[in-house]
This record gives sequence, structure tokens and C-alpha cells, in this order.
Amino acid sequence: MESIIGAQFCGIDFGTSNSTVALADASGARLIALEGTAVTLPSAVFWEPGAPQLYGRAAIAAYLEGQDGRLMRGLKSTLGSGLVNDKTSVGGRAVSFRDVLARFIGHLRKAQQAAAPGLDQVVLGRPVHFVDGDAAADTAAESVLAEIARDCGWREVAFQFEPIAAALHYETTVPREELVLIVDIGGGTSDVSVVRVGPGRAAQADRAGDILGNDGIRVGGTDFDRQLSLAEVMPHLGFLAPTRSGGVMPRHYYLDLATWHRINALYTARTASDLKALRAEVLRPELIDRLARLVEARQGHALAMRVEEAKIALSGAEAVRLALSDLTGGPNPMVRRDGFEAAAEALVARVRGLLSDVLAQAGIATDAIGTVFMTGGSSGLPVLHRVVAEVLPGVPVATGDMLGSVGTGLALEARRRFG
Ligand SMILES: Nc1ncnc2c1ncn2[C@@H]1O[C@H](COP(=O)(O)OP(=O)(O)OP(=O)(O)O)[C@@H](O)[C@H]1O
Ligand SMILES: [Mg+2]
Repeated sequence: MESIIGAQFCGIDFGTSNSTVALADASGARLIALEGTAVTLPSAVFWEPGAPQLYGRAAIAAYLEGQDGRLMRGLKSTLGSGLVNDKTSVGGRAVSFRDVLARFIGHLRKAQQAAAPGLDQVVLGRPVHFVDGDAAADTAAESVLAEIARDCGWREVAFQFEPIAAALHYETTVPREELVLIVDIGGGTSDVSVVRVGPGRAAQADRAGDILGNDGIRVGGTDFDRQLSLAEVMPHLGFLAPTRSGGVMPRHYYLDLATWHRINALYTARTASDLKALRAEVLRPELIDRLARLVEARQGHALAMRVEEAKIALSGAEAVRLALSDLTGGPNPMVRRDGFEAAAEALVARVRGLLSDVLAQAGIATDAIGTVFMTGGSSGLPVLHRVVAEVLPGVPVATGDMLGSVGTGLALEARRRFG
């Protein structure tokens, strides 16, 4: 590799939950500060009509303070859902998800420009699949992201799979050549690769032969949030509540409320009036009152944040109390890790299947894997560590920078490609 002295290279990890920007030069790669001294930026936008948009923690804080505007999170999920050109209403104005994505990525571009002015090439991370089992939709999702990046001012835009980027980061720490299984479980996707890494391999121009297996599924932390919410929270708001006619409450309200990027869809006059009508039909109307109160106060994201906090707390405790009464007027339920894991069983089974599939694709025995490198925020879930231990018994597990390894690896990839 020919490297230009002093040249810098940029990698962007636009994540479902958190984003990072990394710069590499001849000496290595580092994440840059995006909000104060923090190197991660929650992928959140607060959009108040007529005011400048807020991003990250500031966006979340403005929403929690009750400022008048829309909080948007989980935006990356719209790329793979066909929703990206759909509009969402902000203060009476229709804004497309694409526009919101462009603002957020434009904010990352500004941070890069401030740290390394004039740099106009970038490697963006991407999940192995934005969409499961639909190659055309997957290509479309990548094209939209590339277009947005060009609109934001990067002249040359390339992509690398997020788990391969994580492998490039992990590679900087290994003393000898080995086969590593990268398991990157983030907010929106789980991505797994088998990669041959080693100090001597990092400098090689073509690494395609070092990637023995690579696949991903659209299962991530936000799906675990949804399952926990549907199992432990939504029943207190009328999910599956019986109606006088022998049916149950329509489910779609609860599915939207439990899905980060769908929450704002509930904030319509139509929902408010429909809930009033439904109230008369269910056997326990007080449950619908809680839902109506929450929706009316636009507290859907606040609820989702409490659920996510409880989920994270369950990684370190067997049981936690979910504080909800200030939002719903209902109880503060205790949630248990075993109950959460049971509710998330189908997701866990899909991750287990993904691990087996990628190992089969690589055509190697599990004992050929030297290390499992687990990264991404959701790699903190104990149940996923158990799954890895079941599929790869006895293989050592390394955990690195859970939120920074993909971004750092993407900058290393940018140096390799553009250097
Ligand atoms: N200790 C923990 N236990 C369980 N989950 C956690 C923990 N810490 C963070 N998470 C979850 O990790 C997810 C965020 O991880 P990360 O920042 O790696 O995702 P991302 O890179 O934004 O998403 P993706 O790569 O899928 O687009 C969130 O769902 C968050 O709730
Ligand atoms: Mg990620």
C-alpha cells in the first residue's frame, strides 16, 4: 500500500442506534468527538418546525423536556423497509424519512469537515443485508444511502460490510494469524463473518480471499426492545385486551408503539378518535385510557426508552422494576431476565441459525475458529453469549469497543482503498 504522508481517510458507521465518525492516517485510526467529548452520537433527530434540527443526546433531551417537535430514532431501519420515501408529519409539514436521514448524515459530514477539512472520500458501513431475502430492495437501500452521502458533499463513496470493518479493527490487536468469527449485534441488524486476520495480512490490497463466510439478518436490539415491550408493557395498555364482542383490541397500535421508527405514526387525530370509540368496546376501558393518555402526551419514545433501559439493566441483573406510572398512570411492573429471554426466544433462535449458517458457508469446523469477537451494543445480552458458547463450545470470546470498532475499521478500510 502506498500511503500519502499526512493524508487522512474517513469511515462513517451510521448505526440504527448510534453513529461514529473515524479518521485514519498512516499511524492508525481514531474516532472523532461528535457531541462534546463523546465519540458516539445517538442516531436521533429532533425536528422542530422553524428551528434548527437537534441531533444525538441534545435531540433526546429536547424531547424529554417536552419541547414542541418530533423525535426520530431508528431511522436506518426505514432504509430497508421501503418507508424511506414516505413522509412523516412535523408541525403540519410533511418531511420524508430520506430528508431526515440526509440531515443526520449531513451533521456527521460537518463533524468530519471540522476535524479534517476538504476530505471528500468516505467509506460507509452497511449491514450485510438491509433487507432479508430481497436483493433488489437491498441494492436500493444502499443506493439511497450513497446518494445521500453525495448530496452531503462526499465526492467518492464506497461501502464495506459492518462486520468486515469490525474485523479490520480487531486485526490491529492480534499478535498472530487466526480465523476469527466476528459477531456484530447492533440496534437493527446482526452481522456475522468468518475472517482470516493477522499482522501480515492487514497491508494486503485484496482481502476478498480472507473472508470465508459473511451473512446478516435484520434482528437487533430494537427487536429485543419490541419483544420486551409487547410482553411486559403493552398488556398494561390494552394489548390483547378482550372486547365485548369476543375479540381483542386491534394489535397495530401496540406494534407501532413498540417499534422505534413507527411511534410517530400514532400521533394523529384519527388515532385519538379511534381510541375513544374502542374504549367503549373493551372490557377494561381503563387500559385504553392509559394508551390514549400516553399517545396524547406524545410519550411513545419516552416509554420506548424506559423499556430499552430495562432491557440493558437486565444484562446485569436478574430482575428490574420498570417505572411506567408517570407515563401511563398504570403499574410499575417487575421484569425478569428469564421472562425477557422467553419473550425474545424467536429472535435468539434466528441469531443461532445465522451463526450456524455462516460457519457452514465458511466450510470449517468450529474448532478452526481461534476467537469469537463480539461487538455491537446488543452483544451485551447474556443470552447471546450463551448461544455463542453453545454453537462454538470452548472457543475464547473477545469483546472490544462495543460501539466503536465498526467505525474505526471503516476508516482503516478507507485508508486501504483510497490511500
Ligand atoms: N449492556 C447491554 N445489554 C444489552 N443491550 C445493549 C447493551 N448496551 C447497549 N445495548 C443495545 O445495543 C443497541 C445499540 O448497539 P449499537 O450502537 O452497536 O447499534 P448500531 O450500530 O447503532 O446498530 P446497527 O449496527 O444494527 O445499525 C441498542 O439496541 C441498545 O439497547
Ligand atoms: Mg452497528
